[in-house]
Amino acid sequence: MKIACIGTGFVGVVTSAVFAKLGNQVVGLDIDEKKIDLLRQGIVPFFEPQLSELLVETQKTGNLTFTTDYSQGIKDSDIVMIMVGTPSAPDGQADLKYVFAATESLAPHLKDGAIVIVKSTVPPGTNAKVREIIKANTSVNFEMASVPEFLKEGTAVEDTLRPDRAVIGVESDRARDILVELHKPLTSNVVIMKPESAQMCKYAANNYLATRITFINQISDLCEANGADIQEVIKGIGQDKRIGAHYWYPGLGYGGSCFPKDVKEIAAYAKSINENESLFIKIDDLNSKRIGRLMAGYDKLAGGFAGKTVAVLGLSFKPNTNDTRVAPCLEVIPWLLDHGATVKATDPKAIEEIKPLLPTKVQYLNDVYETIKGASVVILLVEWDEYKTLDLSKINSLMSEPKYFIDTRNQYNASSMETAGLKYKGVGR
Ligand code: UDX
Repeated sequence: MKIACIGTGFVGVVTSAVFAKLGNQVVGLDIDEKKIDLLRQGIVPFFEPQLSELLVETQKTGNLTFTTDYSQGIKDSDIVMIMVGTPSAPDGQADLKYVFAATESLAPHLKDGAIVIVKSTVPPGTNAKVREIIKANTSVNFEMASVPEFLKEGTAVEDTLRPDRAVIGVESDRARDILVELHKPLTSNVVIMKPESAQMCKYAANNYLATRITFINQISDLCEANGADIQEVIKGIGQDKRIGAHYWYPGLGYGGSCFPKDVKEIAAYAKSINENESLFIKIDDLNSKRIGRLMAGYDKLAGGFAGKTVAVLGLSFKPNTNDTRVAPCLEVIPWLLDHGATVKATDPKAIEEIKPLLPTKVQYLNDVYETIKGASVVILLVEWDEYKTLDLSKINSLMSEPKYFIDTRNQYNASSMETAGLKYKGVGR
């Protein structure tokens, strides 16, 4: 099929490359010439495993091209996917200005019978406005659809190539048949529904996962107070098929480009339609205050951070990405500096990205042991593979007293740390 992908951000680049890999003719479209130039050379402006290789391969086969010209990108396309950013407006609602601007630009070039898919995360009801804009700018027949994206950063290519399901929101049998055909090579598990339901699926999935993480973080705080171990509790309740054992690892709270924004957005959306937003407000509030609360506890434990050197491991918002949006270090490091600590920090991929966002007195090192050298406290913030199998005896020999290892991702246990001569603090244990 001939597909135009508008917006070459994270979702746009991954989706273009994956559909091109499946043998479709894909045009990636963006108004940013610099970005398009880089993509043409196979350069991805962010780190995502497998993506650069896929970009080179699909451009070589001729299945993927890039352009900044709307007419060239849209005129032959059977399917047009809008994947531009939806930043939060000051009131927390999704700011749809880029979606509407892209719609205005694409409309005059639309091919008769094209299907326009809004893949950006948008509140239900957005399709109606997009349709109005298109109608005002063209007389061809077209259809609207919603196919939300559930990929995760760090595993985006795998998630897109092998999704758990494809959610397809359509208004006609024709659009259903075309989009089922398009997604068939990716999954046989296609769920068909109305576009409004598809858009709610995206909001509901992200908000449920954010709530689940917040819930287990609250339970982990109770565990700390009463001597229980959250990892044992997760094992115990996870055997219940209604609950499941995955995707609620406790820590400093959820971050990244989606959950914090989507929780605020659904709260603002609920309020805007006079529905109760209090659950979402509470989740956002608990998550936002979590780091400050835990840091105060760690400060006490370590006998005060003032005058101490602290080694921070992990500067991205999670492993396998250099995305630093709502990364825990952005709050943890300023907190440490404000409380008189000297901070050394490391990350396998995100050092250059984080530097402009943190005070200049942070010292960055590429080697994890050089980072730990001379520190009296280590804080592991991100569970990169590199940090899961550290040589604990070596760490002991490099650290100075009190030799605290704060493991905010529960990658280690107290007994192996104690054997190595380190004091250990996990989450919820
Ligand atoms: C998320 C959704 O998972 C994805 O389906 C959607 O399309 C986009 O938003 P992403 O933000 O890339 O993906 O990362 P994810 O792996 O879901 O992690 C989000 C945040 O939750 C991270 O800060 C992560 O550390 C945290 N998290 C995740 C936990 O604290 N515990 C967990 O068990 C899982």
